[in-house]
Formats: sequence, C-alpha cells, structure tokens
Amino acid sequence: METAEARESKRLTKIGSEQRGGLKLMQITLGNERICEVCGEPSEREIVLGAGVTRWMLLPCACRRARDEERAKKNREEAEARISAGRVALVAKIQKQTPPAYQDVPLDAKLQQFADSFNGSRWLILRGAVGTGKTTQGYALVKYLANAGKLDAEIGDYRRRFECWNVARWLSAARAAFSGNGEVPDLEEPFLLFLDDLGAERIKRDSDGDSWAREQLYLVLNTRWEWRRPTIITTNLSAKRVEEHFLDERIADRIFDTSLTTIVTLTGESFRRKR
Ligand SMILES: Nc1ncnc2c1ncn2[C@@H]1O[C@H](COP(=O)(O)OP(=O)(O)O)[C@@H](O)[C@H]1O
Ligand SMILES: [Mg+2]
Ligand SMILES: [Zn+2]
Repeated sequence: METAEARESKRLTKIGSEQRGGLKLMQITLGNERICEVCGEPSEREIVLGAGVTRWMLLPCACRRARDEERAKKNREEAEARISAGRVALVAKIQKQTPPAYQDVPLDAKLQQFADSFNGSRWLILRGAVGTGKTTQGYALVKYLANAGKLDAEIGDYRRRFECWNVARWLSAARAAFSGNGEVPDLEEPFLLFLDDLGAERIKRDSDGDSWAREQLYLVLNTRWEWRRPTIITTNLSAKRVEEHFLDERIADRIFDTSLTTIVTLTGESFRRKR
C-alpha cells in the first residue's frame, strides 16, 4: 500500500506541474485520515476544498473491500439464477409448443456435433424421406440447444426468442394477415427459427410467372442469411429440387450456402410404417 507521504508528494507534483503549464485547477488540500476501528486501515480522508469547506472521502479499508466483493458476488449469483430460471422457462415453453407426435425422442447422434458446436449462427438443413424423423429431430434439437444453455439471453429477451413453423402453415397465416386477419408472424427477427417441411407448400405462380409465397420465403431467408441468424430447415427436397420447386436459385443459394449451413440427411424406413 502507498504511504500517506508518497501520496502527498504525488499530489504536490501534480499541482506543481499543472501550475507550470499555466493550468491551475481547483486547489485542494488533503486533511486528516480516519482509521477504521475494525480493520485498522484508513477508511476516510478529509479533503479541504477551500475556505472552511471540507468533505470526507471514503477510502477502501479492508472491511469495505470485503463488503464490495460480497456485493459483487451476490450480484453475480443473482444474475446466474436469473439466467437459469430463464432457461427452465424456455425449455418449458418449447415443450409446450411441441406437438405430442414429436415429443420425447432424444437427439439423433447425427445431430450431436452440430448441437455441441452451435455458436448461434449456423444453419441446419435436415433432409430425408417422409417419416424419417425430420420434424421430430427439429424439435429435439431446439430443446437440446435450450437445455444446453445455447439459447440463453445474451442481449435481453431478443436472444431467447424462437419460432417454430410449418412452412405451409406460416404462408397460410401470412396470407390471412395480408387480407386483414391478424398479423404476419415475423420470422426474420427471432433468434432461432425452425422452419418445418420446406417444399411441401404450394407455390402458385401468378400470371406474370412470379409467386407471392416464393417472395415471402425469399425475404425471410435472405434477411436471416444476411444477419447470420440460426435457422433449422427440414425438407425432403434436394438442392436441385428446391430450385425447381421455387424456380428460384436465390433461395436455394441461401439455404445451401455451405459456408453457413450444415446438411444432415436422415435415412431409414418411415417410422410411421414401422409401427
Ligand atoms: N427416433 C424415433 N423413434 C421412434 N419414433 C420416432 C422417432 N423419430 C420419429 N418418430 C416418430 O415417427 C413419426 C414420423 O416422424 P416425423 O418427425 O414426422 O418424420 P418426418 O418429419 O421426416 O416426416 C412421428 O410420429 C414420430 O413420433
Ligand atoms: Mg415432417
Ligand atoms: Zn475496516
């Protein structure tokens, strides 16, 4: 610890150099020190600001340092408790939004590595024939990520937001919203998006060969691609078939951007037929 004399000499040097530089700040004089009765270290210092004006400045004596440390520890523990309560609530919310048909199936080994290395930006394309468990695994993955704390709030609640949508259902809700019934469910902003069964929706072409549904999907996927927002997509289309389906290489290009996307293919017989 610095001695009182050393501090005083530093102070005088400082005032001296300020005066030499033609810059005279407030002239203060250090007065008495009070010693903490508990730890015996200086706990307060009197500062004389001017004629008869004095203030007592708190000094960090050992007890005070211990108190500060304890308060910081308590704050840390409270923050951890908040995060963990948020995690429990999130997992419960996901569980509630998972249709019974897809519940209680553990994460497939093929998705383990994606899940464990998930850093909040990568996309996943889950491919496979009908009934191979794509939708089930999509939900299992979202739940796994939440349980592992990978969807914990980092930037307020926005980080925790997620949406799970069947593509055809979302398009139908969006259509209804555009004709005045309800709001278009936003798929661009949520931190995590699970888009189920891309390619099962009908892409109806307008008279000019363009398609409203295609444009809506392009807007969502392009924004998420630009902002690197993690997106899980299930589909039974190949890249080639995605292009044919949408007649749009822009969409296929975002989805199958291999610098961003992990592609996992589920194989095997349909679980539905096996039963
Ligand atoms: N690992 C599994 N073990 C047993 N049944 C499963 C498993 N994965 C999925 N299923 C069941 O098989 C059915 C088809 O799964 P689903 O996820 O709908 O396939 P997909 O989306 O590929 O068509 C569902 O009823 C689901 O509950
Ligand atoms: Mg499915
Ligand atoms: Zn003390």
